[in-house]
Amino acid sequence: MTERELVISKEEIHSRVGQLGKIISKDYQGKKLVIVGVLNGAFVFLADLVRSISIPHQIDFVRVASYGESDKSSGVIRVSKDVELDMTDVDVLLVEDIVDTGTTLHWLQQHFLEKQAASVRVCAFIDKHERRVKKVSVDYKGFVVDIGFLVGYGLDYAEQYRHLQEVYSLQV
Ligand code: IMP
Ligand code: MG
Repeated sequence: MTERELVISKEEIHSRVGQLGKIISKDYQGKKLVIVGVLNGAFVFLADLVRSISIPHQIDFVRVASYGESDKSSGVIRVSKDVELDMTDVDVLLVEDIVDTGTTLHWLQQHFLEKQAASVRVCAFIDKHERRVKKVSVDYKGFVVDIGFLVGYGLDYAEQYRHLQEVYSLQV
């Protein structure tokens, strides 16, 4: 069995996600908020986050594929499932599981600006600094983690571990 080490407990996650929901509810008061989850990793975080947001909002999903070697982002990104709601003049909040090199989010921000969104901000469950290549501003972040390959709470390794209630660092 692969070794794993606890990095973020479910109590920490629960408390932080609640705080983020409160901050987002305050910041987007009176705006046309559309939460856009980035599949697959963001589905667990998004499900908890939206239930801690108290203002009206819509939810949609996007899925992107990045070409290249399995753990190295090539920078070539393609939308494999786009949003279905009209993004014109709405305030988009992109919800991601983890920002690593920043390639995916940098590309997605442009993608939503091209759709004429009024604003595009980013909420990431984890902001990982180790391999950042593209400068992206993560407006709302759950946790900052410096190093390691993380799994659980939506994060996967070869599509495994997404169901874990805590976040672990995997020794691969
Ligand atoms: P980026 O384009 O390099 O920022 O890649 C972001 C994507 O890579 C995330 O949405 C994850 O799907 C994946 N990823 C990066 N680091 C990790 C990790 O530590 N665990 C699981 N997935 C990761
Ligand atoms: Mg992802």
